[in-house]
Amino acid sequence: MNLEKKSLLKITNVSKNFGDTVAVKNINYEIFSGDFVAILGPSGCGKTTLLKMIGGFIEPSSGSIEIENLDITKMGPEKRPTNMVFQGYGLFPHMTVKQNIAYGLKIQKINKNEINERTNEIINLVKLSDLADRNTEKLSGGQQQRVALARALIMRPKVLLLDEPLAALDLKLRHAMQDELRRIHNQIGGTFVFVTHDQSEALSLADRIAVMNEGEIIQEGDGEEIYLKPKSFFVSNFIGETNTLPRSFVESTIDEDNSKIIVRPEAIKISKDSINTDIVFEGVINEIYFLGSNIKYEVSIKDNHTLNISKTSDDFDMNIKKLSKVKVGWNLSNQISIQ
Ligand SMILES: Nc1ncnc2c1ncn2[C@@H]1O[C@H](COP(=O)(O)OP(=O)(O)O)[C@@H](O)[C@H]1O
Ligand SMILES: [Mg+2]
Repeated sequence: MNLEKKSLLKITNVSKNFGDTVAVKNINYEIFSGDFVAILGPSGCGKTTLLKMIGGFIEPSSGSIEIENLDITKMGPEKRPTNMVFQGYGLFPHMTVKQNIAYGLKIQKINKNEINERTNEIINLVKLSDLADRNTEKLSGGQQQRVALARALIMRPKVLLLDEPLAALDLKLRHAMQDELRRIHNQIGGTFVFVTHDQSEALSLADRIAVMNEGEIIQEGDGEEIYLKPKSFFVSNFIGETNTLPRSFVESTIDEDNSKIIVRPEAIKISKDSINTDIVFEGVINEIYFLGSNIKYEVSIKDNHTLNISKTSDDFDMNIKKLSKVKVGWNLSNQISIQ
């Protein structure tokens, strides 16, 4: 897909130290025009620092950042073709929705007609027309979120930077806003860089995911690649649930081989009868958790190992009960090897 896409943003050997803390460590990353990129990683791994360096709010300790081959490493935020939506939104509480959204254009001394036109267009895009004249302090969290987004989008940035914009919203609203963000991205066709610590959010929103840990991007790819082909235990555990077993369980290995294999819970088959997968174990059901659309089984296999298995409810077999003897197994194509 990226073959047809134009390179937009290039981050080369970028590091940032705060005293003794290495917040970002030698990052190399390229972002393509039109992409929706998620930067995913645990709290404190350097996501905000990286985003602020792209936006011009923090200067890198070393390395360079280019947009369309122009070196912007030392350029101030207002001069860059980027715009950032911060974690706390930072709206002007005593100004109306409309005034908040128009503010950036006013500062740029754009003429009144154009300001009006663009403000109305963006207010419609984020569905705030009914609230245009209300002060932002009288808005709900989700509505404030929309204003913050509109205020950044109206500047038509080449790259829109979003720092955990949905973190403060409850789950249902967060899902609704995720759908909205995708719709807006499709509609305006810009390039979004979205920071999150929530793996399901990254998977549902982004075309590309960059997984960060301790200041480094440790894996990059589309959601499927990151989920199905994690290159490290960190990535496999951070994105989804895993079962980890010694390699000796599935193939003959030399004694010193400490390497492991990983199988996702949904890749394991379970039956009271025989199953015809590449790898098969005898097991006993420890626990069954009925979770509505899903069922989770905890199954003991040899040497005190426990497998977590996840099935959709329509696969539910009434004959499998607690303490049932079962066969469990998977195909080699579903097994991930990590050194
Ligand atoms: N202004 C600062 N001064 C000192 N340390 C900082 C500063 N900003 C961030 N850090 C440190 O840098 C690391 C990365 O922080 P941050 O980029 O905010 O992570 P994230 O956004 O992934 O939670 C953390 O250890 C944090 O404490
Ligand atoms: Mg942060």
